[in-house]
Amino acid sequence: MRHAFALIAIAAAAAPVIAAPIQHVRRNNVVVDLVNLDKRPLPGFDNHVSWDYAYSEAKKLLPLLSQENKSDIVTGVGWTNGFCVGNIREMPQIGFQGLCLQDGPVGMRFADLATTFSTPINLAATFDKALMFKQGLFKGKEQRGKGVQVTLGPGMNFLRAPEGGRSWESYGADPFLQSWAARLEILGIQSNGVIATAKHFILNDQEHNRQTGSDSQVGRRALYEVYLRPFIASVDAGVGAVMCSYNKVNGTLACHNPALYEILKGELGFKGFVMTDWWGGRDGIKTALAGVDMMMAGDSDLGSGFSLWGQNLTALVKNGSVPVERVDDMVTRVLATWIRMGQDDGTYPKVNFNSWNTSFQSSVNVQGRHKDHVRAVGAASSVLVKNTGSLPLSNATYKTIAVIGEDAFGPANGLNKCPDKGCVDGTVAQGWGSGTTVFPYIVAPVDGISDKAKPQNITILSTKDNAVAPSVAAKADIAIVFGFANSGEGYITIDGNEGDRNDLSLWHNGDALVKSVADVQKTIVVIHSPGPVLAPWVDHPNITAIIYAGMPGQETGNAIADVLFGDVNPSGRLPYTVGVQRSDYAVNVKYTELNLTYDEGILIDYRWFEAQNKTPAFAFGHGLSYTKFDYSKLNVEAPNADRKAYKVSVNVTNSGKVDGHEVVQLYLALPTWTCQSQGCAKELRDFERVHIKAGETATVSLHLYKEDLAFYDVVTSGWVVPKGDFVVSVGASSADIRQTETITL
Ligand SMILES: *[C@@H]1O[C@H](CO)[C@@H](O)[C@H](O)[C@H]1NC(C)=O
Ligand SMILES: *[C@@H]1O[C@H](CO)[C@@H](O)[C@H](O)[C@H]1NC(C)=O
Ligand SMILES: *[C@@H]1O[C@H](CO)[C@@H](O)[C@H](O)[C@H]1NC(C)=O
Ligand SMILES: *[C@@H]1O[C@H](CO)[C@@H](O)[C@H](O)[C@H]1NC(C)=O
Ligand SMILES: *[C@@H]1O[C@H](CO)[C@@H](O)[C@H](O)[C@H]1NC(C)=O
Ligand SMILES: *[C@@H]1O[C@H](CO)[C@@H](O)[C@H](O)[C@H]1NC(C)=O
Ligand SMILES: *[C@@H]1O[C@H](CO)[C@@H](O)[C@H](O)[C@H]1NC(C)=O
Ligand SMILES: *[C@@H]1O[C@H](CO)[C@@H](O)[C@H](O)[C@H]1NC(C)=O
Ligand SMILES: *[C@@H]1O[C@H](CO)[C@@H](O)[C@H](O)[C@H]1NC(C)=O
Ligand SMILES: *[C@@H]1O[C@H](CO)[C@@H](O)[C@H](O)[C@H]1NC(C)=O
Repeated sequence: MRHAFALIAIAAAAAPVIAAPIQHVRRNNVVVDLVNLDKRPLPGFDNHVSWDYAYSEAKKLLPLLSQENKSDIVTGVGWTNGFCVGNIREMPQIGFQGLCLQDGPVGMRFADLATTFSTPINLAATFDKALMFKQGLFKGKEQRGKGVQVTLGPGMNFLRAPEGGRSWESYGADPFLQSWAARLEILGIQSNGVIATAKHFILNDQEHNRQTGSDSQVGRRALYEVYLRPFIASVDAGVGAVMCSYNKVNGTLACHNPALYEILKGELGFKGFVMTDWWGGRDGIKTALAGVDMMMAGDSDLGSGFSLWGQNLTALVKNGSVPVERVDDMVTRVLATWIRMGQDDGTYPKVNFNSWNTSFQSSVNVQGRHKDHVRAVGAASSVLVKNTGSLPLSNATYKTIAVIGEDAFGPANGLNKCPDKGCVDGTVAQGWGSGTTVFPYIVAPVDGISDKAKPQNITILSTKDNAVAPSVAAKADIAIVFGFANSGEGYITIDGNEGDRNDLSLWHNGDALVKSVADVQKTIVVIHSPGPVLAPWVDHPNITAIIYAGMPGQETGNAIADVLFGDVNPSGRLPYTVGVQRSDYAVNVKYTELNLTYDEGILIDYRWFEAQNKTPAFAFGHGLSYTKFDYSKLNVEAPNADRKAYKVSVNVTNSGKVDGHEVVQLYLALPTWTCQSQGCAKELRDFERVHIKAGETATVSLHLYKEDLAFYDVVTSGWVVPKGDFVVSVGASSADIRQTETITL
């Protein structure tokens, strides 16, 4: 597979329907154009030396290291040894201070005086490239300040089965949305000199049986077009590390599967290092020979006290089981990444937190004003899916508002009572598992709402008791019901949910709560959840507004209040489809079977609904505003000498009364002869979130690169641009297309 592109060129010439083989275009250079933070150049964006230089410097260090030293550089010191969740010991003779590796995608696990950011599923729901970059920038700044050299994120597994437990740790159901978010978060994180980790490689899309034999069986087309795409984007962004996952891929453990590293390192040209997920390498020789470069946590099993690598790797080299060149490659990759990020300059902060001591107090506060960003992302990711006029609240004359549901309240038993957030206690603002953080504080929804209501002389009535909810609601002018669902990592079970959810319903009788309140009062429903939740009460005439608010982090209450009261005009968009019933989805979690056959192929999420002609309750990309946007003048310009991409522009007019953001989405349908047997569907390719003042028109430009026109051809094992008609669709959601044009190749 190393020479796949050369092979395509030969094979493609013989295939009549194929227009041209293509190389994967590296997009690093365009990111700066697309994300102009306040029009300034990205801070530190290209502060890294080249991989070539880093490799040549790293290779100079190898002769200073014994085989024993090399084995230590690629092996963690073992769980709970060292301050971080993963630790590599120091090698003073080369100025290497060791490495601190720490979770995770929402901020920093086990650290004090740090921020609980909005979860990645919320970041995806903003559809905002600048916010994606900023989130990485701020998270990386905190990680560096705490002495973390390798952050274990971003996550880019797929919301394939809607109940998937860790869905909130990644960016949803679409490969291009995931790719943009991954690329931009990585650029932001690494601009601080922190190494980002693209994880989990690969097809780790449910929790059940991931460590006990689940086998993701996928065809090559879906592998490339869907699951590999965010990793391709991560490599393009210069990601320093990749983490292999626990599950099997086509019968072989991901951390033992050489085909995966031939693709990653060979075809994609990944130059950094691959680490195992914690105890994900089960055999020292197989892990080394597959192409994995670092064994984590280092001990062979939780608490085993011995290692499959470490000085056992030295023994494997000495008796010829692992070539010395393979270990030199591992060490070169680790040191080159460390050099490339500038971590070798002696200025990197020392670790100043302790993962294993809850009473440890750091003197280093890294939070800055990041809470403003958390609040902004929380509001921008609140997806208003229905509104018949009761929102925003500030424009109505409500004297008394009832705020209802346990999810509206803060934790009753202390802010961080359950380790890794392994219980439900108050509002759900992150899921559970290793991807969580310690809350520095949390603003509960009822408090955020009360803060806005007080100056307007609005009285807030509230209850977390479902039994009295209708009577409290009846005393008010309107009710806001907070419903929730939760999910997380498989090592913790809550209410019988072993990581993955058991169903797509609201928890703790939420549907009955919503209905009991709507039966007596005009009702706004706010849902905090890791992914789709079914809304069987959607057509109840008293339910006047519904918001899917995801898991917004520490500022959750302020963020939802901003949207409810109209201080922020909502613009969040669903990064997944909400079906009418669970059976509408192509896939469910396999709770007992070990073979996970990816039979839907490339028809993930909204593509399945479209191909199968199923009408969703709320479509992928859907989200309402307090204003209205009209589209006109779609124009598709072919690439030219100055521009590698098709430029797709459209005029968008804010024809309502208030200023707001529109999320303009570009979908592409490839020539129909490339469709799968289960049907055809258009696919998201690009998006832009733009602010448009009431009454004004903006021209919005989106891009289609040549690789965006390609499909993965299993016959020739390569990306090819097919001949035929391509339909370019621009609109406000996957189900709300406003303008189309056809390109014929
Ligand atoms: C490096 O390896 C040599 C030879 O095994 C050993 O004496 C030395 O202590 C090692 N250095 C470190 C920092 O572990
Ligand atoms: C996995 O196995 C299936 C069935 O043998 C095959 O069609 C597919 O190409 C394999 N996928 C990969 C990624 O090798
Ligand atoms: C090497 O592995 C064996 C088990 O195969 C174990 O008993 C031993 O402790 C390991 N050595 C180290 C240094 O971890
Ligand atoms: C090499 O050493 C390892 C670890 O001690 C052992 O498991 C393996 O069988 C040895 N292989 C050979 C070919 O001697
Ligand atoms: C944990 O940290 C506290 C506060 O710094 C310290 O007093 C205590 O000794 C530490 N406990 C352990 C087991 O290290
Ligand atoms: C709210 O009312 C004010 C004053 O009438 C008006 O200017 C504004 O456009 C309204 N906002 C929305 C979102 O309708
Ligand atoms: C709220 O009530 C106070 C006291 O009655 C009054 O002074 C103030 O103007 C009221 N504010 C609003 C926004 O109505
Ligand atoms: C809607 O609420 C009103 C009270 O405001 C109630 O009388 C009516 O029965 C409710 N409608 C339904 C369909 O439950
Ligand atoms: C699981 O997949 C493997 C490999 O394709 C196959 O041999 C086995 O029969 C499958 N097991 C079940 C229960 O379908
Ligand atoms: C579309 O936008 C462009 C650039 O802003 C502008 O020149 C043109 O007049 C717009 N067209 C319409 C119909 O508003």
